[in-house]
Amino acid sequence: MNHRIVAVPDAVRARAHIDEAKYKAWYDASINDPEGFWREHGKRIDWFKPYTRVKETSFGPDNVSIRWFADGITNVAHNCIDRHLASRGDQVAIIWEGDDPADTRRITYRELHAQVGRMANVLRNRGVAKGDRVTIYLPMIPEAAVAMLACARLGAIHSVVFGGFSPDSLAGRIQGCASRLIITADEGLRGGRTVPLKANVDAAIARLPADSVDHVIVVRRTGGAVAMEPGRDVYYDAAAREVTEECPAAHVEAEHPLFLLYTSGSTGQPKGVVHTTGGYLVYAAMTHQYVFDYHEGDVYWCTADVGWVTGHSYIVYGPLANGATTLMFEGIPTYPSVARFWEVVDKHQVSIFYTAPTAIRSLMSAGAEPVQRTSRASLRILGSVGEPINPEAWEWYYRVVGEERCPIVDTWWQTETGGILISPLPGATPLKPGSATRPFFGVKPVVVDGDNRVLEGACEGNLCLDESWPGQMRTVWGDHARFVQTYFSTFPGRYFSGDGCRRDEDGDYWITGRVDDVINVSGHRMGTAEVESALVAHPQVSEAAVVGYPHSLKGQGIYAYVTLMQGVEPSEALRKELVAWVRREIGPIASPDLIQFAPGLPKTRSGKIMRRILRKIAEDDFAALGDTSTLADPAVVDDLIENRQNRA
Ligand code: WTA
Repeated sequence: MNHRIVAVPDAVRARAHIDEAKYKAWYDASINDPEGFWREHGKRIDWFKPYTRVKETSFGPDNVSIRWFADGITNVAHNCIDRHLASRGDQVAIIWEGDDPADTRRITYRELHAQVGRMANVLRNRGVAKGDRVTIYLPMIPEAAVAMLACARLGAIHSVVFGGFSPDSLAGRIQGCASRLIITADEGLRGGRTVPLKANVDAAIARLPADSVDHVIVVRRTGGAVAMEPGRDVYYDAAAREVTEECPAAHVEAEHPLFLLYTSGSTGQPKGVVHTTGGYLVYAAMTHQYVFDYHEGDVYWCTADVGWVTGHSYIVYGPLANGATTLMFEGIPTYPSVARFWEVVDKHQVSIFYTAPTAIRSLMSAGAEPVQRTSRASLRILGSVGEPINPEAWEWYYRVVGEERCPIVDTWWQTETGGILISPLPGATPLKPGSATRPFFGVKPVVVDGDNRVLEGACEGNLCLDESWPGQMRTVWGDHARFVQTYFSTFPGRYFSGDGCRRDEDGDYWITGRVDDVINVSGHRMGTAEVESALVAHPQVSEAAVVGYPHSLKGQGIYAYVTLMQGVEPSEALRKELVAWVRREIGPIASPDLIQFAPGLPKTRSGKIMRRILRKIAEDDFAALGDTSTLADPAVVDDLIENRQNRA
């Protein structure tokens, strides 16, 4: 195959931390002697008690256990704040850009220290102690980072729930980890519209058994009137006035959980991915420095929401551990205008910019002019994450946004991996539009076929990892067996990512997308099983099957086949109602794009739904359905094709 290759520009290489030679030397060292490599790099963070043990990991098949730096003692908030005070107390840690361009805040490391201490004391006064779970359901305001760091300071475990999730989804996540304290805001504000966060929290708590939640702390964002339950709910500003800023950082073991984050998988309800302290922070900080070639003085902006792992590792923990200035943006790319991203870049002189292909595609459709109205001269590095970036979007990002000056790092990773695993390094890796290129230090990708046979050279198959890295998830909250089953049983002895990939003749990796029943909608992971279970909860639905299909803006759209209860007639009104129903059950990100009413679904004689066929029809590619003779009733396929919703 011939690919367009963008060589490393000399100017980028000259100032980069890592060039080709260093990448090769470090990479080889990290694979040949992981123990020695990480013993050295673990020192990039402060330890109250240094580790003597480094890598204690096993991918099974008998015992899956992952421990890094296990006898070290540290604290994440200390590393992200306190240790910077002497050298950079007056440097801006967080630039906050509000939904309204007139709303900006700049918080120095010293101010962040004070705010986190106060928030930690507010939590401590309400009984939060080491190991307790705290649910954070906040918009993109500095208090979100402050709340996360306050938990870390106390050794409490945060579970951030994306503000777009419904009360039902929130309730499941509160109950899943038995957290008794919730931090929320009166309302969120995005694109000029309010989001009723506190009302959602109230609705979520109403679904839980009585007395599940002791405290709700409400940050005032809009000042909108909300119901306050006496004894349970308190405004953060009032609670903060009653405490000091002095709060010592708890000493916690390297393997003490830092956070859990619920994420969708191919089966069942979302699971709580557990990340721990030492290894996670070392990995988040190190990848942030080298993948984005972060230098002193850079202004770094990741446009993700803190409700996702990208926000955890690359808005909060990685950048702050490195003493960086990190920008946090409350709004959306298209408000007040489609030039908003680039206006913010100019306003704050952003040098490193990290976003998702879905945002690029939506801005691309508005043309180059809104971009060219802005300067963007401060930009040096561009990043992409969340889904495969199609070459057209890559080229637009590269040429129009970066004016062919800025390398694009296409970073492949997952909630489970804690940090970036496959990505170019700006000073070391020639770029290929659409390829995530090379593994980071310590990362050992393998491509296997369906029988767990390792494929060599140029090949295509299932993407697995054969070695642990410090940022890897440790377990599923409360269910280690599910952890082993989900990630280590399909291909015994290796971690299976759930993604397919191609490796080309140069050894570069091209992620082809999920090979399991997870779909990726605008860079957000959605389990088809979750959407199906929401649909069948509707009284008029008897059965549902959900698949992804190619969508020009979202990457993948949600296509639902729905069989109605006997006697219920399909109608446009019902279609609309079902879309609204799923939004209410899960959240707007799960809204089906297309619903096809199907009198029957294609099933094998043993009753298993043949998703392969449903995917093909959803893709409008029904000429290649393959063998349908094993179906219990091959005639259903004709009806499905005739009434398909996605027509070219
Ligand atoms: C997909 C987000 C191609 C992939 C950090 C993965 C990508 C899932 C890329 C994880 C990329 C993420 N190229 N695909 N650069 N980055 N993905 O857990 O399918 O929200 O398994 O983590 O997103 O999504 P998650």
